[in-house]
Amino acid sequence: MLVLGIDTSCDDTSVAIYDSQRHELLSEKISSDVELHSKFGGVVPEIAARQHLEIIIPMLELAFDEAGIAPDPETINLIAATRGPGLIGGLLVGLGCAKALSLGWNVPFVGVNHLEGHLASAALTHPEIPYPHIALVVSGGHSEIYKANSVTDYVLLGETRDDAAGELLDKVGRLLDVPFPAGPTIDKWTLDHVKDELPVKFPRPLLNKKDTVEFSYSGLKTACLYFLRSEKSKNISREIIGAEVFRAVVDCLLGKAFLACENENLETLIISGGVAASEYLRREAEDRSMSLGINVMFPDPKHCTDNAAMIALAGLRRFENKGPDEFDLDCDSSIAVGE
Ligand code: KG4
Ligand code: ZN
Repeated sequence: MLVLGIDTSCDDTSVAIYDSQRHELLSEKISSDVELHSKFGGVVPEIAARQHLEIIIPMLELAFDEAGIAPDPETINLIAATRGPGLIGGLLVGLGCAKALSLGWNVPFVGVNHLEGHLASAALTHPEIPYPHIALVVSGGHSEIYKANSVTDYVLLGETRDDAAGELLDKVGRLLDVPFPAGPTIDKWTLDHVKDELPVKFPRPLLNKKDTVEFSYSGLKTACLYFLRSEKSKNISREIIGAEVFRAVVDCLLGKAFLACENENLETLIISGGVAASEYLRREAEDRSMSLGINVMFPDPKHCTDNAAMIALAGLRRFENKGPDEFDLDCDSSIAVGE
């Protein structure tokens, strides 16, 4: 089966064609308009939506070119597009495009939950993922821990009470004059200082509360802000401040994810979402998991940040489980996993 996947949930316009029989991606195209947004310090929804509208058709053409197949009903068997969560203007462009192709080609379509895409993304690289397992999704909009019972059955165990981890990094990035998105730069700073004793220490909110696997990151941002206003910060580089923020973020992410494994008596942990592209997080997760006997798995870094390949795979799973969607299916910017 050939699945056309489309993701327009944030600033990237992504299109992919996935061959389920050969478990192979025939093409993956991502066009990011990050430069358009970085001067505003974050994604501007209206600009993102207009950009998706302008480039969605050229992106589809590029994807079919790369796959070496004709864009017609003879080749594609299923069309999958993100319906939420995300920015509503962009979602409307992607889902509307999927419906139009579905109608014109008489090919079934499904609306896909973006988080179910992130949850599926590791399987693009590791087809043999054991179930049940613990899944940590950590992105610009989400920091959530699920128990994954099967490819379509997820139980939410804990989430952030306020900011998502990626959102916090991007906000701290603004305080430290790092261009948006700040995650990759702060990741690099943290790796540069990985062996150093740092002269500043920020709190690890909720980390020692063993009765919850939730996160809370907004206090960390405030701690960083007050520290920057203090005399003490004058002698400390912004690289070191950023590195300590990210150490605190990762301590909480891994502390809670491993606690969830212990609580549920599960030995496999899958970490996905944009922040899972972090080399520091990947190294720490691998180091710490060994002594705990936990098997940690990540998607390929290119499938951690937003992409349409994960939407194609999650769409296929949904189609096999629930069948096609009707044309009256709407975008839903705050839909929960499993809805
Ligand atoms: O999954 P994603 O592409 O979009 C959402 O669905 O939110 O995640 C984007 C987030 C941003 O906050 C960005 O700063 C962060 O992922 N990010 C990283 C890295 N690459 C992207 N954070 C840490 N290290 C990275 N290498
Ligand atoms: Zn995402």
